[in-house]
Amino acid sequence: MQFSQRLALLALLLLPLLPFPARADEGMWLPLLLKQLNEADMQKKGLKLTAEDIYSVNKGSLKDAVVQFGGGCTGEIISNQGLLLTNHHCGYGQIQQHSSVEKDYLTNGYWAMNREQELPNPGLTATFIVRMEDVTSQVLTGVPTTGIVEAEREKLVQANIQRVAQAAVQGTHYQGFIRPFFNGNEYYLFITEVFQDIRLVGAPPSAIGKFGGDTDNWMWPRHTGDFSLFRIYAGPDNKPAPYSPANKPFTPRHHLPISLSGIKPGDFTLVFGFPGRTNEYLTSWGVDETYSVSNPAKIKVRDAKLKALDQDMKASDKVRIQYAAKYAGLANYWKKWIGENRGLKKLDAVSRKREQEARFTQWVQGGDEARKAGYGQLLPQLEQNYRAGRDYTLARDYVTEAVLGVELLAYANSLLPLAEMVAQKVPAADLAKAVEKARGGTVNFFKNYNAPTDQKVAAALLPIYAQGTPPALLPDYVKTIARTQPATGNWTAFASQLYGKSQLATQAGAMRVLDEVLKGNTKPLTEDPAAQLINAVITHYRATILPTYTKHADNIALLQRTYVAGLRQMQTDRKFYPDANSTLRVAYGQVAGYEPADGAKYAYYTTLDGIMEKADPTNPDFEVPARLVELYQNKDYGPYAVDGTVPVAFIATNHTTGGNSGSPVINGRGELIGTNFDRNWEGTMSDIMFDPDRVRNITLDVRYMLFVVDKYAGAGHLVKEMTLVGGSQTAPGKEVQKIKVKRKQKA
Ligand code: ARG
Ligand code: GLU
Repeated sequence: MQFSQRLALLALLLLPLLPFPARADEGMWLPLLLKQLNEADMQKKGLKLTAEDIYSVNKGSLKDAVVQFGGGCTGEIISNQGLLLTNHHCGYGQIQQHSSVEKDYLTNGYWAMNREQELPNPGLTATFIVRMEDVTSQVLTGVPTTGIVEAEREKLVQANIQRVAQAAVQGTHYQGFIRPFFNGNEYYLFITEVFQDIRLVGAPPSAIGKFGGDTDNWMWPRHTGDFSLFRIYAGPDNKPAPYSPANKPFTPRHHLPISLSGIKPGDFTLVFGFPGRTNEYLTSWGVDETYSVSNPAKIKVRDAKLKALDQDMKASDKVRIQYAAKYAGLANYWKKWIGENRGLKKLDAVSRKREQEARFTQWVQGGDEARKAGYGQLLPQLEQNYRAGRDYTLARDYVTEAVLGVELLAYANSLLPLAEMVAQKVPAADLAKAVEKARGGTVNFFKNYNAPTDQKVAAALLPIYAQGTPPALLPDYVKTIARTQPATGNWTAFASQLYGKSQLATQAGAMRVLDEVLKGNTKPLTEDPAAQLINAVITHYRATILPTYTKHADNIALLQRTYVAGLRQMQTDRKFYPDANSTLRVAYGQVAGYEPADGAKYAYYTTLDGIMEKADPTNPDFEVPARLVELYQNKDYGPYAVDGTVPVAFIATNHTTGGNSGSPVINGRGELIGTNFDRNWEGTMSDIMFDPDRVRNITLDVRYMLFVVDKYAGAGHLVKEMTLVGGSQTAPGKEVQKIKVKRKQKA
């Protein structure tokens, strides 16, 4: 093929990608920039509000009803008494903490019938965003743009960040932090108000809140009543205060009215929350690393770990409760990565990225000398760094996922700094403090720990680590173990020895070890077989894997920043949104079904009827509480029904990711229509590449929440606190009727 032909072919391939308009549904936008970037488009799509109604510093706006819930979820305020709605899976850890075999709130649910019964949760926070501000120029003051390695740049940036963030909150009770956007091309300051007295108000039984379990997780059609209720308490001045029985329910600047009017296809939807992390601007080599290296390794490890946990959880109620939250967390990303890889493959993501890179190269070559100098070497250097870093990425994934996936080893690792303190002869008081802290950690750790289960995990994970790690990156200590087992690589025997001998595998043993450390005797710790193994792995990791891994990761960070800057220069008419970074974002789209596969079509909503269809008393994921069946049989739905059934969940085209769980889903009038809790499996690659045809966020219909609180739990006093608007007077859409007709024929 001649060069000109190749060019023509290339142009043809690129045609569908031009001129890179950002599809309205793709994007996690900065609230601060809505006016400039999105307001007109949002209003065209059905928003009746202004950007100022969504985000304002000066007056109450939607943002004042949105919080970051704990570290990784979102919640919304739904009453003027600080009532907070989030997902069941977001409150899961707290519900578990309050549960025991006798008072099993996970299984039975929990409803505070008065304020006294609302349960405190030490450590849990709810964070409001007071305001945000572009501080790029302040953060980059004195930071050279060229001729500086990434680690040095980062030091300068961090020093500026410290200074600017501190100055911003001086003399206030607020907190401030600064995050990089567009890979460090821009920086924004966030001023937050962090509440610390957050009490559990209500949670449905898992058979509602986790209905469908891990079977249905990441899937549509979905019937999970994934919500829980909390309340923010404040001091007498309505400001954050540590837990005190004297605290009062918080009075918010805004709480979301709740719409009973429902939704129909095409309706405008807005998701307001704290998406965690996306990588939309990765290059082909970055996507390939995720797709071919990291995801497969991590999937394999979790596969094995989940199997081991599952066996023991099925055999014992105690283990089931101990490991419920851990299991859910592990299973969640395991399944997500599987879906992500399928999606990336289906989209042919690596090739698409290559095409974009070809276009970028063309643009660079067609530019002036400055452009060539700035961007000419970028892509080859990225490729080279990914290539050279690949084995190290894999080795790192195995250490973090497999070795530290063994709880005994992770726990032993957490104690090792104590031995270091003794060796360095730190003052006795400091050591005593550290040991005291370790004792507390130990009590917490053993609450949810079962050594025989963990031993099975070790037997399953260590061989995966030993065999999967490139031999050159495996510590000799591990190679020796692998070689000297009775039968080569018999890790089951090794694990049984390890757990038999290690003092750290029981709480009493661990406390004895800590007592010795306090006396200055570190031998019982450092000579413990678990500590020895993890010490060998981690020492080798720090000496051999991490430096090279970090070198490439740093190079990639710098190159990626330059690449994103270049893309933004190249595509001047495209609206860019920054990757998610756990800061407050707005996504908007519309209610829509989708076609998951050739010949299949999914409706945009599900109902209580579907719960009854899925009901299966022999499968713990699909048990339905008797009370729910009773309400269903009596059609006792209150004002929450549409067309003879209760809506449960719906899907829309909003761009969301982990961290958006619990986010309010809001209609064009600023009313709450649901709570985001998941994404469809076919859409999980949207963290890397969005596909408007297939990516859907999954939302709990707010009417199902109300139905469960009011009718199922008899906690109508909570509904009274909320502001309900509209009514089921809205005529159901055509699709509703179609589906009903079909159901009736079936019956
Ligand atoms: N996939 C949802 C999210 O990423 C829900 C996870 C909790 N549910 C579960 N069955 N593990 O967080
Ligand atoms: N369930 C996720 C969360 O906890 C949201 C699903 C997603 O990743 O989109 O944030």
